[in-house]
Amino acid sequence: MYQIDTNFRKLVLVCTNERHDGRECCADKGSAELHQKIKFAVAAADPKIRVSKSGCLDRCSTGPTVVIMPDNIWLGRVQEQDIPELVKLITS
Ligand code: FES
Repeated sequence: MYQIDTNFRKLVLVCTNERHDGRECCADKGSAELHQKIKFAVAAADPKIRVSKSGCLDRCSTGPTVVIMPDNIWLGRVQEQDIPELVKLITS
């Protein structure tokens, strides 16, 4: 392996995990569309922050789950109306 150079200063993970067995998942709470909106808003505010979809982050019952790294901030029940506040938190 080798270390990859990057210009990204933060990584934001938005869980878009989808389940088909009846258990709760972030995808059932609109996280795919939420990911797109967060990604667009953050890119406009700071292109050095990467927003990526993720698999399950083990906080399924309180999803959609968003994690800001390296700040180690975990957010639950994130909704579209939270995006302005979320962008401030992410870019700070
Ligand atoms: S399905 Fe999103 S945290 Fe588990």
